Amino acid sequence: MRVLRLSDAPALAAAYVRNRVYLSRWEPVRPEEYYTETWQRGDIANRLAAHEAGEGCPFGLFAGDTLVGRFNLAGIVRGPFQSAVLGYWVDGDYAGRGLASAAVQGIVAVARDDLGLHRIEASTLLHNVGSQRVLRKAGFQHIGMAPRYLRIAGQWQDHNLYQVVLHD
Ligand SMILES: CC(C)(COP(=O)(O)OP(=O)(O)OC[C@H]1O[C@@H](n2cnc3c(N)ncnc32)[C@H](O)[C@@H]1OP(=O)(O)O)[C@@H](O)C(=O)NCCC(=O)NCCS
Repeated sequence: MRVLRLSDAPALAAAYVRNRVYLSRWEPVRPEEYYTETWQRGDIANRLAAHEAGEGCPFGLFAGDTLVGRFNLAGIVRGPFQSAVLGYWVDGDYAGRGLASAAVQGIVAVARDDLGLHRIEASTLLHNVGSQRVLRKAGFQHIGMAPRYLRIAGQWQDHNLYQVVLHD
């Protein structure tokens, strides 16, 4: 796993094309251009600018040259909050091998030791048992349920909210 580069746009677009149906239950409805290298290159550029500004950290998970997962820290707020939001997915062909668990645990360590954050927040659909297991194994605790929190698969859907506090 490493921070995404602009040159990852083809691999990222290919991953979204391969996983379009698989991810559709768990993600917002995407416009057609989302699946193009051009759109993904622009998105990576925006995320790298946010990374430069200390506002986020976009990671890609690779098997050789194939991008097989994405883990994104975003919305970093400093001051008394020192918090970030985590989102992720793993390629359907690579699911169930412990990759998300290992990656999220690695990101928790980076957020604590390198970024000096106090807290990471993540949210899952109520029925996303696999993602909830990933979070709990990485030390996240359930902090509540947010009704109609995110528009996923075309509908405003309730989400479970989780956080991990990184320092005593
Ligand atoms: C959720 C997701 C990231 C998990 O990735 P993964 O690499 O398969 O996760 P892991 O292999 O580390 O498995 C994590 C745990 O969840 C469990 N799990 C996975 N899918 C499950 C399911 N559908 N039901 C119950 N448990 C499940 C695994 O058994 C494992 O538990 P264990 O370690 O106690 O055996 C992946 O399935 C995915 O990308 N899903 C679609 C997008 C998504 O949901 N993203 C997260 C949005 S919040």
